[in-house]
Amino acid sequence: MLLTRALAVVTGGSSGIGFATAQRFLSEGARVVISGRNADKLNQAAAKLGENTLAVVADSASPEAMQRLYETAVAHFQCDVNVVVANAGVSRQTPVRETSLAQFSDVLNVNVGGVYVTVRESLPFLGRPASIILVASLAANQGTKNFSAYCASKAAVISLAKSFAAEFVEHGIRVNSISPGVAQTPIFDTLGISSEQLAQWSNVIPMKRPAHPDEIAAAILFLASDASRYMTGADLAVDGGMSGISPF
Ligand SMILES: NC(=O)c1ccc[n+]([C@@H]2O[C@H](COP(=O)([O-])OP(=O)(O)OC[C@H]3O[C@@H](n4cnc5c(N)ncnc54)[C@H](OP(=O)(O)O)[C@@H]3O)[C@@H](O)[C@H]2O)c1
Repeated sequence: MLLTRALAVVTGGSSGIGFATAQRFLSEGARVVISGRNADKLNQAAAKLGENTLAVVADSASPEAMQRLYETAVAHFQCDVNVVVANAGVSRQTPVRETSLAQFSDVLNVNVGGVYVTVRESLPFLGRPASIILVASLAANQGTKNFSAYCASKAAVISLAKSFAAEFVEHGIRVNSISPGVAQTPIFDTLGISSEQLAQWSNVIPMKRPAHPDEIAAAILFLASDASRYMTGADLAVDGGMSGISPF
């Protein structure tokens, strides 16, 4: 897939979709920088990923931390960054009557602010051509009870990808987003959603099962690689048919 020796940064690479993406990239011959806030979790993930991996603790919503991350990455691997995956994100239940503006803003800060900072701080460090992938969600286009902050944040991510794509197209930088449906990752633990509940949701997925994180990673790899060289400003649905197939 032509990622040999490419340098890729994957935010939120210590878990779930980000970790699976780092694995995929490494298996294609890339060098990978993973980030997250929890140092123990991040270092354990880096140990599992093995050679050609660098772990940098960084809050994706902190411009200083992200600038430091890119500086460290480029100095360590002695090359420009070719691929950025703005994957770090959080999901929280935010029922409108019980959610303060601060709690609402907290979700937006990571999911939208973090994506903005991840992309903005990457710009001085990008080689050409470069590919940026923003991880959005099916939730961007489906109103979901108790998840207004998360859904709004993911709609903003898709919108950011399109505007970034417009701004960077003449500079050899492609920007696309990806919208997973339901993927079996630890994000559901943070929501108190059990694997039994997740299995019940499978009934409404046309393919009758959640995605394995590697199935999302495979699509991210496609967007990262030269195979998608004529794509920019697009949103790729990887959702077992949820957005495209009527339940009737
Ligand atoms: N799983 C799904 O069904 C699904 C569906 C659609 C979209 N998505 C999206 O896919 C992305 C990955 O989700 P996942 O399911 O793989 O979740 P996950 O397993 O919970 O992983 C989230 C990752 O993001 C990191 N992270 C969270 N906040 C961060 C911050 N402020 N700065 C840096 N790193 C941060 C976490 O590490 P730390 O906690 O150590 O920081 C962790 O590595 C998210 O954007 C999510 O919204 C997931």
